[in-house]
Amino acid sequence: MIPTSANAAAAAQTLIGRNMDQLTIIQPDDWHLHLRDEGALATTVPAAARCFGRGIVMPNLVPPVKNVAAATAYRERILAARPENSEWQPLMVLYLTDNTSADDIRAAHACAFVHACKYYPAGATTNSDSGVTDLERLDEVFETMQELGVVLQMHGEVTDPDIDIFDREAVFIDRHLVRIREKFPALKMVLEHITTEQGATFVRHSEGPLAASITPQHLLYNRNDMLVGGIRPHLFCLPILKRNRHQTALIEAATSGDSRFFLGTDSAPHPRNAKENACGCAGCYSHHAAIELYAEAFDRAGAMHQLEGFASRYGADFYNLAYNRRKITLNRDPWTVPERIDYDGGELIPLAAGQALNWRLQN
Ligand code: NCD
Ligand code: ZN
Repeated sequence: MIPTSANAAAAAQTLIGRNMDQLTIIQPDDWHLHLRDEGALATTVPAAARCFGRGIVMPNLVPPVKNVAAATAYRERILAARPENSEWQPLMVLYLTDNTSADDIRAAHACAFVHACKYYPAGATTNSDSGVTDLERLDEVFETMQELGVVLQMHGEVTDPDIDIFDREAVFIDRHLVRIREKFPALKMVLEHITTEQGATFVRHSEGPLAASITPQHLLYNRNDMLVGGIRPHLFCLPILKRNRHQTALIEAATSGDSRFFLGTDSAPHPRNAKENACGCAGCYSHHAAIELYAEAFDRAGAMHQLEGFASRYGADFYNLAYNRRKITLNRDPWTVPERIDYDGGELIPLAAGQALNWRLQN
């Protein structure tokens, strides 16, 4: 049978995927991660610095990082935990609340190391109790962000109890994102950790500056992995893993070469006992093997050649930052992810614990 040109292209891609044993790319950045604070930083900061050049540090501490003074102090604590000789940089974010003012945004804009403001709907996820209760109240804040070019990062879920947890992202897009996009056409927005076909489609077709970050867990797993044959609490994160169709749409988006989609691990450590619990908390820890987990997903899709754009260029372009000058090399060199990791006097269970990964970062 004579292959069609589409098939021939697919076959060529598979060949690239199978034959490539080494890949050198510009050092990647993580555009969404949780480092936590105090004792946790001894684990999370070296893990971030292991492969990334920069990391966008989420502000959902208790209390949250709401202003430049709090971000400055948190950044100092993070830098104190950085391994010697590391050049890794934390990029700070302010947490929007009902009381955030236009002056808070001006102060954020004037601060060299604050790169965005994060919208959490109140109660949507871990440590979001101080989040925004009514999005429409933030119009003045969004107006100022648009004017100054400050990036708005969105946890894109509604929290109404009558909306099914698997529909929260799609309903957020219909109810809120469409309106915000229209009302603030020049506002730079990132729909964080997208998990649905609707999210990927909306971002792809949206006019104006809108991008999305994608996590390794949403590329590698779907809700069957979390729920079939028993509940796996270490795969529970928010937004929750969706059905297979959505996983496929996210893989397509991430590996398409479309610069609107970039890396954001949402690495979110929790002690083992907080996850293996009658009311287990949400978040997957992935920084023990972040780039290796993405490499796994890209390799499976025959798209290793798209990894550099997704991991190292498109996010920097969106945030108007230069690419990292260093390079990293990944080798096809199978290894097994540890079953557990020491964490803040206890332990955590990393994403893909005990599983084999094909790619390994060269030191
Ligand atoms: C995050 C956390 O633990 O801080 N949890 C998660 O499931 N992703 C919060 C968040 O980003 O939603
Ligand atoms: Zn997060």
